[in-house]
Amino acid sequence: MTESSTDDLPDHVAENRRHWDTNASKWVAPGERAWDQSQPTWGIWGIPNRELPLLPDDLTGRRAIELGCGTGYVSAWMRRRGAAVYAIDNSAEQLATARRLAAEHEIDNIEWIHGNAEMVPQPDASFDFAISEYGAAIWCDPSVWIPEAHRLLRPGGRLVFLGNHPLAMVCAAVDGASPVGPTLERDYFGLGRLDWTEALDDPGGIEFNMEISSWMRLFGDVGFDVARFHEIQAPATAEGTAYWVPAEWAKRFPCEQAWELVKR
Ligand SMILES: C[S@@+](CC[C@H](N)C(=O)[O-])C[C@H]1O[C@@H](n2cnc3c(N)ncnc32)[C@H](O)[C@@H]1O
Repeated sequence: MTESSTDDLPDHVAENRRHWDTNASKWVAPGERAWDQSQPTWGIWGIPNRELPLLPDDLTGRRAIELGCGTGYVSAWMRRRGAAVYAIDNSAEQLATARRLAAEHEIDNIEWIHGNAEMVPQPDASFDFAISEYGAAIWCDPSVWIPEAHRLLRPGGRLVFLGNHPLAMVCAAVDGASPVGPTLERDYFGLGRLDWTEALDDPGGIEFNMEISSWMRLFGDVGFDVARFHEIQAPATAEGTAYWVPAEWAKRFPCEQAWELVKR
């Protein structure tokens, strides 16, 4: 594993490293369950890949990168589909879980890299497929990580990412109280940087999000075409609260977005 120091990290990357190193133990059990799954599921409602096909069935001969791999289960799903996988994460503690689970599942050919997904130490056009599920997708500055993902992909390569829908962030309490509610709590225009370091519930970390039109403008400016855009609704059978989102809220409003982009 390549180690990365905190020297010269942007402030949000340094804070997010502190946050994820501190909280990694809470993500061990969910990570173990996801590594055990034979089929991928997506997001907080566990939508099966056959309903939300973000991952191709066959990645044989492809080189894939996960940007903010956390406990590494998406990388494992890609490896099982035949890809050679490069998995980068900002948290050494999260990577420790990922490496342990890879050994226990006897999965090889995943490179686990400690580093910042906004600045990946790989040459241009190194990958056929890039993915982020709640990694760079929400914790990195889009104006930096989207161009970086574009640089890393070969022409025709695909970037898939899933994270919070901007509407959910507009309805998130400004003081960080959970769960999300049905009222507009902050402006949609100018969402940008969402600082949770003083949040009432689960404090720590700095996220990013944008208006849908700003995401689309960024993709076009950088050189991505949008293949598909998904606004994720909780299944009719969903109950209770998943993380910070009540099922009844997410049946009415999109709590998550997923983008499938193709490099021109
Ligand atoms: C919720 S996890 C998502 C990963 C995976 N889907 C999982 O649940 O284990 C968020 C991950 O993003 C990582 N992350 C945050 N900022 C990052 C950055 N700048 N570069 C790489 N990884 C980052 C965190 O360290 C954390 O492991």
